[in-house]
Amino acid sequence: MTKNILALIIVIHSVLIGDMHPLFLMQPLLHFRTTRKLYFLVRRLIDVDLAKYKEMLRKAYEVALMLKKQEEVLVVTHVDADGITSGSIALQALERAGIEGNILFVKQLDPSTIEQVADRNVFTWFTDLGSGQLDLIAEKKIECVITDHHVPQGHYRLQLNPNDFGVDGAHELGGAPTTYLVAKSMGLNYDLVSLAIVGAVGDLQDSRHGKLIGLNRLVLQEGVEGNFISAFRDLRLFGKQTRPVYKMLEYTFDPYLPGISGNEKAALELLESLGISPKDGEFWRRWIDLSYEEKVALTSELVKLCMEAGYPVSTIKRLVGETYIMLHEEEGTELRDAMEYSTLLNATARYGHEDVGLKVCLGDRGEALRRARTLLQNHRRNLSEGLKLVDEIGIVELDNIQYFHAEDKILDTIVGIVAGMCFSKANLRKPIIAFANNSEGVKVSARATQRLVEMGVHLANALRIAAEKVGGKGGGHSIAAGALIPAGCEKEFLRELDRIIGGQLAKCRS
Ligand code: C5P
Ligand code: C5P
Ligand code: ZN
Repeated sequence: MTKNILALIIVIHSVLIGDMHPLFLMQPLLHFRTTRKLYFLVRRLIDVDLAKYKEMLRKAYEVALMLKKQEEVLVVTHVDADGITSGSIALQALERAGIEGNILFVKQLDPSTIEQVADRNVFTWFTDLGSGQLDLIAEKKIECVITDHHVPQGHYRLQLNPNDFGVDGAHELGGAPTTYLVAKSMGLNYDLVSLAIVGAVGDLQDSRHGKLIGLNRLVLQEGVEGNFISAFRDLRLFGKQTRPVYKMLEYTFDPYLPGISGNEKAALELLESLGISPKDGEFWRRWIDLSYEEKVALTSELVKLCMEAGYPVSTIKRLVGETYIMLHEEEGTELRDAMEYSTLLNATARYGHEDVGLKVCLGDRGEALRRARTLLQNHRRNLSEGLKLVDEIGIVELDNIQYFHAEDKILDTIVGIVAGMCFSKANLRKPIIAFANNSEGVKVSARATQRLVEMGVHLANALRIAAEKVGGKGGGHSIAAGALIPAGCEKEFLRELDRIIGGQLAKCRS
């Protein structure tokens, strides 16, 4: 018994302070049952991630070597927050290595965009996309490297993709952190870790646990150690840096704050009832201006309101989580908080102004930031109108899925974000499918919950098969996916998808 306790103390000591790898120190003590149990627990927690990280770094180094042989590189990336951050990490790494870099943003990699890339005839770095289109890239014989986190459709030697290493690309390593691993192997690019974390948050990699997990966490740790980022537990609402507290509450729709969301008067009354003054002299107080006690009081009240409204524990838990602060950005600006920064980027890219977001990532704090802020206001309005529209048209439930068709009333580039936000009021037991028209046909966005994924749902696989059945194409992640299908095929697509998702759930049950 004493021996066991002693072993435990040694192990804990080594985990907390030892320089040597804790698992190494534990090995001589493996014949004690308690240590053995702890050994496997610690191995599950630390070592697996670390081993995978090292393995990925080896591949990143190989990719970086290839890039460094080039004189000119075309970066092709995705038009969303993690696409812009990935692209800007790549561009800066190239520039610092003395390589000429240019960037091309695409909504998706389809035969016509691949053709466009092939025509440029320049060595290409695909970031945040490419893995789902390896066949098309090979067909056009495009010389390239890929740093992506979407479910890969095949193998390619110069592809760095977490999924190839048993790491989940939807939660454990995003497209921007994946790209950062290569940038880090190209030179002294450690400062780019901030963009990597903004990208990961923009991709909702932290949504499952309210904090970054897996290899994302190891990247985060580097950012914290390098004094670029600070990470701590806080309320996880949007606007903590920039909005008056009552506005922050009023504009929160995910989750819907009972009696408060959309109601300015109620938001102000809530603050007053808690003795929190909404103003400091002339100035409206923001979340960052509140004292610790005020923050605790308001957070507890929000939790209480949601509990009284009968919200599931999982929704309530999402109110609090980790916040990521970019230490080199000015306090009180969108760029200080990863959640606000990434939303600002989405607000540029998803409206065809990705150049504005890119400039912000590359350091423009003047004109580009001003334009991005205007676009952000527009984005917030569109999201809130999108949610209102869904309320009006309603969500239709089939056996295993639920859907709405926004026609031309929600932009195809943000319909997925709206779909995800709808979970705060839709049926949590079925994936939600959203349609919106675009110039090429009908854009499909699908979102599931973590629970559904654990029950067997894999949206990327399901959408790919259902889309191909009707002559379209789809892909993405298990929890979030998208597709493009020909107009008029929605009914057939839905029938097919309903069947496939039903099959995925049944397979897992049996
Ligand atoms: O192509 P990409 O992976 O960047 O698309 C990411 C989108 O998928 C995000 O905008 C987010 O809405 C959604 N997503 C999600 N939950 C995750 C990961 C991504 O809803 N865990
Ligand atoms: O556009 P949306 O945010 O719904 O995209 C969700 C996920 O599905 C993204 O990761 C995106 O890359 C993927 N997607 C895809 N093929 C499409 C549309 C989206 O793989 N045609
Ligand atoms: Zn991505």
